[in-house]
Amino acid sequence: MGHSWVAQQAVISDVFTSVTSVSLDAAAAKPGEHVIDIGCGTGDTLLAFARVVGPSGAVLGVDVSVPMLDFAKHRVAEATLSNAAFALADAMSYAFEPRWADLVYSRFGVMFFDDPIRAFTNIRSGMKAGGRLVFVCFRAMPESPWFRVPIEAARPHVPPQPPVDPLAPGMFSLANEERLRGILTGAGFREVALKATDVPIDGKDTKQSMAFITQAGPLPALLENASGEQRIRATEAVCNALAANIGADGRGLHVGLWLVSALA
Ligand SMILES: C[S@@+](CC[C@H](N)C(=O)[O-])C[C@H]1O[C@@H](n2cnc3c(N)ncnc32)[C@H](O)[C@@H]1O
Repeated sequence: MGHSWVAQQAVISDVFTSVTSVSLDAAAAKPGEHVIDIGCGTGDTLLAFARVVGPSGAVLGVDVSVPMLDFAKHRVAEATLSNAAFALADAMSYAFEPRWADLVYSRFGVMFFDDPIRAFTNIRSGMKAGGRLVFVCFRAMPESPWFRVPIEAARPHVPPQPPVDPLAPGMFSLANEERLRGILTGAGFREVALKATDVPIDGKDTKQSMAFITQAGPLPALLENASGEQRIRATEAVCNALAANIGADGRGLHVGLWLVSALA
């Protein structure tokens, strides 16, 4: 997975343009702040924070993926930013410097913990009292036409998928509002706010949208057990469905997010 995210980095940055702008606005990082980016991946948002906090601030990117973190390090070096550090680690157990961060942020990097309460408790240990937690995660899959439309197009052409545990680590594991609130309050956060936010995906055109949707999100798992022929038919149906729905500017399909904020 890490390798395909590295290969698709430019597409991913494009596709998430609106998600990034909505979530970075909510994070409101300031010069001089210490920021932790959880599951920073290839570094899109980490780079943005490093620029905003400037030389008097610092950013730490935490991720479990070697190829993604290597790529993020390369981008930081290329941008000659000297205020970014990285930890190749599971954020659930990483020994954060106690009470270091003013802001902990994540773009889709906090849905994969084996034990979410333990993970968010550990993350809070690295935050100053009153520090801000801001992240985006997905609401339930049907609330995201960007995922739902391709899945519905592909489904008639592929074998039925075995049922999945909606609470298991995965992209929709924090979709349930009550559960998400319970996790964050259970981890000791206060003033937990979940804002249901629909954000367009910036698909640009069908080709770019296909490049993303066939590598990331729930579609690859649906195609996994299909035969070669089934896969061709399903992919063609997805392509047609996207072409019919993404609109002239490529922004016709949205994702349903929780824009989450809380205080340590
Ligand atoms: C959907 S990707 C998002 C990457 C990046 N934030 C972005 O928006 O481009 C999820 C990221 O979380 C990382 N990740 C998953 N579980 C993690 C964990 N337990 N601790 C740290 N990072 C994790 C993955 O390696 C991956 O980079």
